Amino acid sequence: MTHTISAEQSAREQELIETVVASFEGATDDRLRVLMQALVRHLHAFIREVRLTEEEWNAAIAFLTQAGHITDDRRQEFILLSDVLGASMQVVAVNNEAYGDATEATVFGPFFVNDAPLIASGEDMAFGATGEAAWVEGTVHDTDGNPIPGARIEVWEADEDGFYDVQYTDGRTAARAHLFSEADGGYRFWGLTPTPYPIPHDGPVGAMLEAVGRSPMRASHLHFMVTAPGFRTLVTHIFVNGCDYLERDSVFGVKESLIKEFTRHAAAEPTPDGRDTAGAEWTSARFDIVLAPAADEQHPESKETP
Ligand SMILES: [Fe+2]
Repeated sequence: MTHTISAEQSAREQELIETVVASFEGATDDRLRVLMQALVRHLHAFIREVRLTEEEWNAAIAFLTQAGHITDDRRQEFILLSDVLGASMQVVAVNNEAYGDATEATVFGPFFVNDAPLIASGEDMAFGATGEAAWVEGTVHDTDGNPIPGARIEVWEADEDGFYDVQYTDGRTAARAHLFSEADGGYRFWGLTPTPYPIPHDGPVGAMLEAVGRSPMRASHLHFMVTAPGFRTLVTHIFVNGCDYLERDSVFGVKESLIKEFTRHAAAEPTPDGRDTAGAEWTSARFDIVLAPAADEQHPESKETP
């Protein structure tokens, strides 16, 4: 469907854009001015391109209002919206430029919480969350291959039913922890074999996915956030090789380099730390992490003052 407009109509629409853009000229914060003026240009371009109806604009306002109403300390509908639009992954891409063999980043997601418990190397981060035990180990290195000791490694994941602890009704903490890499850069812990789960889809974002025939499912994954002084913070996941949803992750988070083998082991097979598996099968995965230097280390000249 095409809609042609007269030169007079086009001029009126263009004049409005210029007036609104000019209204931000007085902003004392240069970056804020750039952001607001570009936002206005792109928003108006969208409205004009689709010839947005007033009914559609009201529906959009109602959608955002619902997203606000369902959002609280434990439910963040706007992050979900950003995720399913691919906006979160685009922001990740823009802010994590490829550097040597540094590990790729992916979406942060809405389920991280500060102050997760500290565990020692080899301890269990499940804290009673249900699921199949998984031994996860690897190293943290820089892009020259030097080990990074003392890197803070945050890990969090859903239980076998697809729920994070923040979705439990009893407020307990489970399936999340932080640990530190050892002197040789190594780390290891017990977690759960990740399983696929749907993003919360009982709100406006779920209704939108339903309306367009998209699945809310996320490919099975285990979240990592790795920080060390002098290095770029890495926010990423590892994905389970063979998961059905690798090709259609609802938030576009999958990257080939982050798909890892979770090797299956029979219950009788000895575990790396001698732990008793109580007759249950278990898995193991390896994830070697490479951190890029912090931005001011990549471009030392930017530290110089003019
Ligand atoms: Fe997740």
